[in-house]
Amino acid sequence: MRAAAALAALLCASAAGAEDTARFEAAFKSCRPCHSLTPGKGSTAGPHLGGLKERVLGSAEGYDYSPGFQAARRQGLRWDAQRLAAYLDDPDAVVPGGWMSRPGGLSADDRAALVDHLLR
Ligand code: HEC
Repeated sequence: MRAAAALAALLCASAAGAEDTARFEAAFKSCRPCHSLTPGKGSTAGPHLGGLKERVLGSAEGYDYSPGFQAARRQGLRWDAQRLAAYLDDPDAVVPGGWMSRPGGLSADDRAALVDHLLR
């Protein structure tokens, strides 16, 4: 009985995981024109977003950031869940004068899925 309950819990957790991933994929479509998830690959309009967990703001190699991001980098600020959620909600509030405008059309759940996956 206990094993069955544990199995059911496990199945539910992995179904929720797949749903999260689908939500992330859908939400990230709006970022892809400007961001790649792979260092050195894809779009050059914005910095790549690979390995964002604890990455210093404005530190993707080869990307020429705005002065706002360069200042954040000098301060050694790092990405964490709180900062990334705030940035997606209002980029200018986290990095004043940065070049990215507020991503439109995202629900709170979309933003949560983006934060969760980008910081894995
Ligand atoms: C129209 C292009 C564009 C779109 C669409 C866009 N961004 Fe950006 N993003 C940028 C630019 C340009 C920068 C660099 C900003 C600067 O230097 O001020 C940036 C910076 C960032 C950074 C900081 C990265 C670092 O190296 O510190 C994150 C995180 C980010 N974007 C996430 C996202 C996410 C998530 C989405 C989708 C919801 C998104 N962006 C959509 C253009 C875009």
